[in-house]
Amino acid sequence: MSSIARHNPGLVLLLGLATVLCGCGSQDDPASPTAQDPAGSSAPAEVPGTVEPQLAVTQKQVATDPDGKPVVLYQLSNSHGMQVDVISWGATVVALRVPDRDGRFDNVTLGFEKTESYFEPGPYFGATCGRYSNRIAQAAFSIGDHDFQLATNNDPNHLHGGDQGFNRRAWSGKTINLESAVGVVLQLVSPDGQENYPGTLTVDVTYSLTENSELRIDYKATTDKTTVLNLTNHCYWNLAGAGQGSILEHQLTLDCDNYLPVDETLIPTGETATVAKTPMDFTSAQPIGSRIEKVSGGYDHCYVINGADGTLRSVAEIFDPASGRVMEILTTEPGIQFYTGNFLDGKPANGDYQKHGGFCLECQHFPDSPNQPDFPSTLLEPGLTYTQTTVHRFSVRGEGSQAQPAETQTD
Ligand code: BGC
Repeated sequence: MSSIARHNPGLVLLLGLATVLCGCGSQDDPASPTAQDPAGSSAPAEVPGTVEPQLAVTQKQVATDPDGKPVVLYQLSNSHGMQVDVISWGATVVALRVPDRDGRFDNVTLGFEKTESYFEPGPYFGATCGRYSNRIAQAAFSIGDHDFQLATNNDPNHLHGGDQGFNRRAWSGKTINLESAVGVVLQLVSPDGQENYPGTLTVDVTYSLTENSELRIDYKATTDKTTVLNLTNHCYWNLAGAGQGSILEHQLTLDCDNYLPVDETLIPTGETATVAKTPMDFTSAQPIGSRIEKVSGGYDHCYVINGADGTLRSVAEIFDPASGRVMEILTTEPGIQFYTGNFLDGKPANGDYQKHGGFCLECQHFPDSPNQPDFPSTLLEPGLTYTQTTVHRFSVRGEGSQAQPAETQTD
């Protein structure tokens, strides 16, 4: 697929609207509290009945980054009391609160208690990963006659943009107020040669919270030299609540008949394999843990999204039978990396979360695409615009399992 085919006119419309309706002025200044947030600290009600929840976005400085710049926390809330917290550092989602089937709110995305912990190399909780999220084999690729050697930060490969990826950079933010959504546009200008990638890249990531209980993420990027680009959000989810045990009972459905087998360093072999009759099959709802023991190391694979054509389509649904929370994921991307928190180990560097304490479903292009000519292209050329939209839609469901045991040949 050419990079122009990755252009999404719907996004341009949203961003155009955002520019027109953007609550600029005092809200552009991270250090200055907004009219909606005079004390610089108001948050929507979590206890129903105390304060009427409303569609609003507030901002306040919560830390100073290692370069002395302010780290700003943006709190998006809707009239149902759903709340999304995003920090400018790494364009990172640090909390997302939604009700369970009894109306009890919990934060369902893993994160660090202290903002400063996000400054260190870590598990990419909630972050925007780039310039190339996921792996590039041997940390090397070529564009035409030019060879590029990147950081080998996941020996022997390159992972999530290198030693200091977009997750550990200061982004600048502007709030947005729309009729039925609020949001923040975060921008990063990544200079030519940063982490050895070619081209000055300008990236906008827009997080919006809608009145339909959706977190919508719109990405836009342009470059002044041909480069490679693969952006994703790296939220770890636990629909029972962050820190509330493992996600192995959550039931997952993926609209993916195929996945990309990997070598021992987690680089795709280049084949596309069917999930049918294997533990990789989530074409009908299955508990994440029902066959995980049969997958060496746990799930850490890119699935091929059925019928992906660059339009927004529903690809995943996760249901937690205990809380009743449901998350649906829609995306314009061709792939979705399913990762079951296999490297979480209960240590402070990993937020004290235990193995399988959260799962990631990262919408993106395929890993190692710059070295795999048969994969959809991740090249971005000057004059073209990269776009991506991914939506996380939350709801609740009554009790009872959706899952019927899948047929597994290796049983
Ligand atoms: C990768 C994992 C990696 C994790 C944290 C995921 O996107 O697939 O292999 O451990 O990110 O870096």
